[in-house]
Amino acid sequence: MAVPGGASSAAAAKGSPAAAAAARSGALRRRLPLALLVVFLAALVYSQIQPPPSKVPGGPRGPPVTAPRTRLRDGRHLAYLESGVPKEEAKYKIIFVHGFDCCRLDVLNVSQGLLEELGIYLLSFDRPGYAESDAHPARTEKSIALDIEELADNLQLGPKFHLIGFSMGGEIMWSCLKYIPHRLAGVAILAPVGNYWWSGFPPEVVEEAWHVQFPQDQRAVWVSHHLPWLTHWWNTQSLFPGSSVKSKNPIILSKEDTPLSQKFIDRTYKDQVRRLGEHDSLHRDMMVGFGKWSWSPVEMENPFAGAGEDVKVHLWHGVEDLYVPVQLSRYISKRLPWVIYHELPTAGHLFPVADGMPDVIVRSLLLGDE
Ligand SMILES: *[C@@H]1O[C@H](CO)[C@@H](O)[C@H](O)[C@H]1NC(C)=O
Repeated sequence: MAVPGGASSAAAAKGSPAAAAAARSGALRRRLPLALLVVFLAALVYSQIQPPPSKVPGGPRGPPVTAPRTRLRDGRHLAYLESGVPKEEAKYKIIFVHGFDCCRLDVLNVSQGLLEELGIYLLSFDRPGYAESDAHPARTEKSIALDIEELADNLQLGPKFHLIGFSMGGEIMWSCLKYIPHRLAGVAILAPVGNYWWSGFPPEVVEEAWHVQFPQDQRAVWVSHHLPWLTHWWNTQSLFPGSSVKSKNPIILSKEDTPLSQKFIDRTYKDQVRRLGEHDSLHRDMMVGFGKWSWSPVEMENPFAGAGEDVKVHLWHGVEDLYVPVQLSRYISKRLPWVIYHELPTAGHLFPVADGMPDVIVRSLLLGDE
């Protein structure tokens, strides 16, 4: 850049206007291709990092709608799945919140016997952006709690219900405790994703948990937090290895998770999960889950203190979890005495799909610990 500018001022110094004009147009000729190249590269980069437009279930480019759906106040729809006893007869109403890369059909597999014995109505739904629920580009850690409350009201579940959330759905339980505690009868948080940037964690706890992750997961999580606008590109590029959770890399499986992962592989409906596209489902989960929160579950006061009611919050985590390091849940359980902590010494991340575990989790939630 210094050279053309220098030439033009040198020509001007010679005092000839014609020479100066010639020099300027020469400089322009030299600069124009460079400027065009910069514009072209910027456009290319922009088009690469720009996520594709959202698809609409039931719309021209979207998947067909097959499940019952309920319409929220802002016009979005949530698809849902009901099981157990009819809600009018139910003693307990439970809403299940699925994890990353899953859908309503991944509902906790509670046995029919227990559903009937205890009188449980079980509701599961596609989180925004998954399967047949509309995308929610503006979703936040708060909006999902309000969505759940609205879902419960639309389906007339009454003033209070139980919640069970697994993995990314487990992290969402903290939002529900924060924003809709008055609606909750009890909560089970299963292998929740933790956010390394929540305030209140001692640095050594974050450090230890951070290094349990594989380097490709550290990078994917880092990008989601620090450069959320780059999340789409990062998770679709092929220059660097991407998240091992998203790519279903078997290195993430602990000894006990290896056989359990077959249940996910065998899911007949797994192609439905990402049908709105990876951005509105997976990438947004990462951007919110690892994003910048204005509050921290680590520092949460007991939302039921003085409520005069016995609302229990159970937190479950496997020590061998390679998807989500146990350290963050372990620390939270120490900081929050109102949380009942179940640490499973040999389990990995997928214990909620192990045979018999759903009933153990639900019994402990509804009846208390034996
Ligand atoms: C769900 O639980 C039943 C037993 O209640 C079992 O037979 C079935 O295989 C389980 N399904 C999955 C996908 O785990």
